[in-house]
Amino acid sequence: MIRAISMIGAALALAGCMDSAARPHPGQATFDSLCATCHGAGGRGDGPVAADLPVPPADLTALSLANGGVFPRDAVTAQIYGYPGRYHSAIMPEFGPLFDGGTVTVTTADGAQVETPRALVALVDYVETLQR
Ligand code: HEC
Repeated sequence: MIRAISMIGAALALAGCMDSAARPHPGQATFDSLCATCHGAGGRGDGPVAADLPVPPADLTALSLANGGVFPRDAVTAQIYGYPGRYHSAIMPEFGPLFDGGTVTVTTADGAQVETPRALVALVDYVETLQR
């Protein structure tokens, strides 16, 4: 019985992979246009302008590895959105104003409900798919 359930799970996971191969992830276009020049198409920090920057762009495929195996969703969202104060970087531009497609309510790790741009949520979801 347990075995049958896990086989169903594997089949669903496989179907999910095939599905995402057929349709691009909703956050990918944003990533490709706003992030890939520095972080690289695969997020490894090897974009075309990376070598010209005074600080190397982060390897976005290792965010979970550096956080005990858990994707640091709130920190990544804050980094991209440029929440005032924390995570502000002089090099990485703030993209907050670019995300004008409406908001969704996101629950952060500490339980806060934060209105977050829909395109930003999709982008962070996409960065999560890049984790090794
Ligand atoms: C102009 C180059 C540039 C662009 C464009 C850029 N970044 Fe960055 N990013 C950097 C650099 C350099 C760092 C590392 C130093 C720092 O934090 O400023 C960084 C750091 C980060 C971090 C922090 C990683 C960590 O280890 O905490 C995240 C997450 C990130 N970028 C995501 C993105 C996403 C997503 C986009 C697209 C919306 C993007 N960046 C666009 C240059 C860039």
